[in-house]
Amino acid sequence: MDDPALTAAESAQLDAAVAALQRGECIGLPTETVYGLAADALNRDAVRRIFALKGRPADHPVIVHLPDAGSLTRYAREVPPAALVLAGKFWPGPLTLILKRHPKVPDEITGGQDTVGIRVPAHRLARALLQRFGRGLAAPSANRFGRISPTTAAHVRSEFGDQVPLVLDGGACQVGIESTIVDLSGGTPRVLRPGMISSAQIEAALADLGTPVIGSANAQIRAPGLLEKHYAPRTAMRLSSRAALAAPSAHRCVLALGTLPEGHIGLALPNEPVGYAKGLYAALRTLDESGASLIEVESPPDEDAWRAIHDRLKRAAAGSSQH
Ligand code: TXA
Ligand code: MG
Repeated sequence: MDDPALTAAESAQLDAAVAALQRGECIGLPTETVYGLAADALNRDAVRRIFALKGRPADHPVIVHLPDAGSLTRYAREVPPAALVLAGKFWPGPLTLILKRHPKVPDEITGGQDTVGIRVPAHRLARALLQRFGRGLAAPSANRFGRISPTTAAHVRSEFGDQVPLVLDGGACQVGIESTIVDLSGGTPRVLRPGMISSAQIEAALADLGTPVIGSANAQIRAPGLLEKHYAPRTAMRLSSRAALAAPSAHRCVLALGTLPEGHIGLALPNEPVGYAKGLYAALRTLDESGASLIEVESPPDEDAWRAIHDRLKRAAAGSSQH
């Protein structure tokens, strides 16, 4: 009960969150990547409610969040050496492992697949909540299906309003884009979704085991994060180089790197990947609400450190053109 890192107000909020979860309700959960829409992972009705709130197809699996790697075997029936190595190096943190599911994990979580996605988040409120709740929390990103992931409590409230009355406010997410997903359920580890923990970091961590890693380019799996239309603003969005940006216009806004070019309306994000990722979704939301008819995004450098950001931008642009 007495966690010195928590204020009295936070502690009371956590008590209310635990009570809501025990009643089978969904809550808004801050994590270091994006906010999640969380429910008791072992309560089928509660997990179904997540899907109903999001408008998400039932065959799309959700990630189970755990307080620590110690409870892995309650959700996964096999924990290969690579899982222990990656958990030891990157948990708590922005990494999700796909493992063979334990029989007691509901189909509602796995989308009927024989695997389960598991992550130990690093956010202090998420960790405190998981410790108090004592069980796994199923949590997809707290946005309606196909929309931009939320990175503040206010974003979650704007997605769900009164339908999700309890949103734990953990401030702006530090990482800002979704976790790296690595599939360890088959032979060779495979990166299914790039994130701020890079494929090269995964590969380096597994080098001692002599295990190669397959990058996301070859991935063939059922993961909605990999659908073309995802993470999308309502406004049309396209990528261009700084030199190719159209002339300034009142109908067009720009998401620039470093500085906003003179005369343009829009926003600039830091010209380095960590700061850029942290601000990306909030910037897209702001530009989406600006009334412009086109969001022009200056393409970041074609470098490994920007890979997960390129992935999200490409999908957002593809999704926006399909509205
Ligand atoms: O950073 C994150 O991962 C955030 C925070 C809230 O933890 N969560 C998140 O959840 O992004 P969601 O549901 O928006 O995306 C999870 C991705 C989906 O693409 C889903 O298909 C994939 O994980 N996934 C989950 N379980 C899987 C499984 N058993 N096999 C393959 N993919 C899986
Ligand atoms: Mg999502």
